[in-house]
Amino acid sequence: MFQPIRTRLLVSSLIVFALVLGGFAGVVRLVFWRNLQQQLTDRLTTVGQSAAASVEYDGGQIKVEDDLSIADLQRQQQALQWFDRQGNLIEQQGDVVLTLPLDPQALAPQRGQGQAGGPAIQAVTLPILNGDSGEQIGYVRVSQSLAQLDDTLDQLDWGLMVGVLVGLGMSGGGILWITRQAMEPIEASFQRLKQFTADASHELRSPLMAISSNVEVALKYPEGIREEDREVFASIASATAQMTRLTEDLLLLARSDRPRDLVLDPHQPALVKAPIDLSTLLRDLVTLYQPQAQASAIALHQTIAPDLTLGGEVDPITRALTNLIQNALQYTPAGGQVWVEAKALNQQIHITVQDSGMGIAPEHLQRVFERFWRADAARTHDRGGSGLGLAITQAIVQRHGGTLAVTSQLKTGSCFQVQLPMYGRGLAPGEG
Ligand SMILES: Nc1ncnc2c1ncn2[C@@H]1O[C@H](COP(=O)(O)OP(=O)(O)OP(=O)(O)O)[C@@H](O)[C@H]1O
Ligand SMILES: [Mg+2]
Repeated sequence: MFQPIRTRLLVSSLIVFALVLGGFAGVVRLVFWRNLQQQLTDRLTTVGQSAAASVEYDGGQIKVEDDLSIADLQRQQQALQWFDRQGNLIEQQGDVVLTLPLDPQALAPQRGQGQAGGPAIQAVTLPILNGDSGEQIGYVRVSQSLAQLDDTLDQLDWGLMVGVLVGLGMSGGGILWITRQAMEPIEASFQRLKQFTADASHELRSPLMAISSNVEVALKYPEGIREEDREVFASIASATAQMTRLTEDLLLLARSDRPRDLVLDPHQPALVKAPIDLSTLLRDLVTLYQPQAQASAIALHQTIAPDLTLGGEVDPITRALTNLIQNALQYTPAGGQVWVEAKALNQQIHITVQDSGMGIAPEHLQRVFERFWRADAARTHDRGGSGLGLAITQAIVQRHGGTLAVTSQLKTGSCFQVQLPMYGRGLAPGEG
């Protein structure tokens, strides 16, 4: 029963780790990318400066000296373009050129596409100044393909992704180990608590039995008791019966959530799978509760398929079904209806107990199976329950390899659905 907690802890810690590692990887990538960009801009500016210096100004005309190495430019995947003051292209070296026109107003680094489908290009434009007068005579634009930079970034992305995944895998292992360490003492104390409940209920049986048998004897010979004491004895008998039922319930529940992988409770016998004629059992139960239904002016209907055979223990199964029918009758006001249905479908027996009663609020729907939980309406109308009925029913159904589900709507009614394997299906004989 601690497995879901462990899984939840693992999943939530992994989500947190993934967010932290993802954020970290994002920041690393951003810083790295900015650094590469800056380096590239610096490099292009240096090339641009020497390209600007390689220009001669002759009679109002710009002439480019031919001493720049084209091979060098190509190797670096760079290109140079010289423009006059109006932005007209005068000369170009290298192929990796921007198709964007020169914008003399904005000399910020440009980024754009060269030929269609080619890699992105980064460009830096610098003014060319006349060496003598210092007057601006044109522009030089240096471009470089971003293919290399993209490759580097791709490698970084892969590295970060693998790093994050390996980190997550390792932290997953670590979290598993930590949760196991942290949960061990909690599990142990939970086991001790359950053992205590089981032992206490077990030990309470004998004194309760002694009280009830003594009271029974006393009530058997009423002539020996004063008239006014007889009522006192009767209420002792009823309180003892209630307490006996409560301790039996607690014992059953304490045993039922004992994990299978722990040492088996010596008091918990394995499930004996005897065939149970469920059709007859249900019909008898409906007949048994018919007078109570009539007294509460509730119409109790049944649609029970014949020959439904279940493998299990008859007393607990009767107890589980009784709880459902009792609840339906208890939580349905006069004039209401209760339907008990049973049928076989896909090797499973489907039993539904439906009522047109007060219903259960959606936020309480899963709480009804909790021990001692009762809706406020149930308490205010005080119908004398302990709130263990459905917890017991669920434990019994699960022990028989079945499921118990509920759907309900306030003031409209509730429907409890039990699904149990047919005899010869589900758990192997003796398994429990
Ligand atoms: N058919 C139903 N319609 C409406 N509410 C229901 C129905 N069945 C159960 N409940 C709600 O779920 C609560 C828990 O039910 P459960 O059978 O476990 O305990 P109980 O009936 O109060 O006491 P007992 O231990 O005597 O059965 C009830 O108190 C009631 O509020
Ligand atoms: Mg009940």
